[in-house]
Amino acid sequence: MKNSKRVNKIEPSKSISLSAKIAELKALGVDIIGLNVGEPDFQTPSEIIQATIKALEENKTRYSLVQGLNELRTKISCYLNEKYQLNSDKENIFIGNGSKHILYLIFQTLLDVGDEVIIPTPYWVTFPESVKLAGGEPVFVETNANFQLNIENIRKAITKRTKAILINTPNNPTGAVYVKEDLLKVVELAIEFDLKIIADEAYEILTYDNSDHISIASLSDEAFKLTLSVQSFSKSFCMTGFRIGYLCAENDFIQDVNKLQGHLSGNNCTFSQYGALAALEMNPSIVKGMVNELQQRRDLAYNLFNELFPMEIPTGAFYLFPNVEDYIKKLKLKNCEEFALYILEKANVAILPGSAFGKHGHIRISFAQSSEEIQEAYNRIKGVL
Ligand SMILES: Cc1ncc(COP(=O)(O)O)c(C=O)c1O
Repeated sequence: MKNSKRVNKIEPSKSISLSAKIAELKALGVDIIGLNVGEPDFQTPSEIIQATIKALEENKTRYSLVQGLNELRTKISCYLNEKYQLNSDKENIFIGNGSKHILYLIFQTLLDVGDEVIIPTPYWVTFPESVKLAGGEPVFVETNANFQLNIENIRKAITKRTKAILINTPNNPTGAVYVKEDLLKVVELAIEFDLKIIADEAYEILTYDNSDHISIASLSDEAFKLTLSVQSFSKSFCMTGFRIGYLCAENDFIQDVNKLQGHLSGNNCTFSQYGALAALEMNPSIVKGMVNELQQRRDLAYNLFNELFPMEIPTGAFYLFPNVEDYIKKLKLKNCEEFALYILEKANVAILPGSAFGKHGHIRISFAQSSEEIQEAYNRIKGVL
């Protein structure tokens, strides 16, 4: 018997399947440097670990509110209000099992079969598949050469079936941080055509140089009303395994998400939520220290790899996204997937092909690993090119 059309229609996550292959090679004793990963190698801050242990010891191990602990939702709304001058309260916040889960809930809540979501390319691998799981159609629009939004392309892609525009800033895989001017235009389009903006801001804290992350919901009262802001504790606080993400949105949308989640898996892990609470209460210098370290790794990675491949300098997240077309031709390879495989097999460095993100001829190199690993990966790649 065949499984559902719904599941057959989606692609497996290329980043997850590569991780499985790398794990296999590592188990065979091959020394792989993993610049494919989407998480820094830093330890989770001990404040977070201790708070989670304490929650376990205090038996905070039971079901809790589906939408998340009141304390945590209140803390998050205060954090957002202070940081972005929003006017939110805890009724605007919903805690999920990572932001990936929040995206799933959003599409299931928002879309009917055949509804369209505009997604600028390159895009994070999960966006189109999550739209498809809800019966929706991803509609891709090219960004500009510097990976900033192309507003004309977005306008042209709007049809009667369009329900939302998905904006991911700082961006995975390009590291672009979208400029305020363009984000204001996206808000204007959303108002004009009565659309939602889904703002994936999972990398909100990770910006470099003088680039500022702009929270779309903060742009105006109307922007707040039509934006579904998706945030995560994963990247900002090194809590990828805790699985804590959240949605900030108008309360009527939150209520529908809550209704759905009540039948899906109920509340997010209770003691993880106490860890998240501690993350927001800890000294901000801890996060600043991590961002400074990532800025140094960005500088190192960019300076090294820019010698090999032409690229935009990323001002957010932790990825380089260079064009490797010249090498694909020179090595007589078919495409960037073969290039990534070549680098994995010959240099024992794991990177991801741009095709996984809807952009051929490119690769994604993560600089979330140590400077030593970045330097060694560069030496090895240079050696085999
Ligand atoms: C743009 C983007 N959004 C969301 C996520 C998922 O994060 P979480 O761990 O919160 O599910 C990722 C993870 O790589 C990401 O790159």
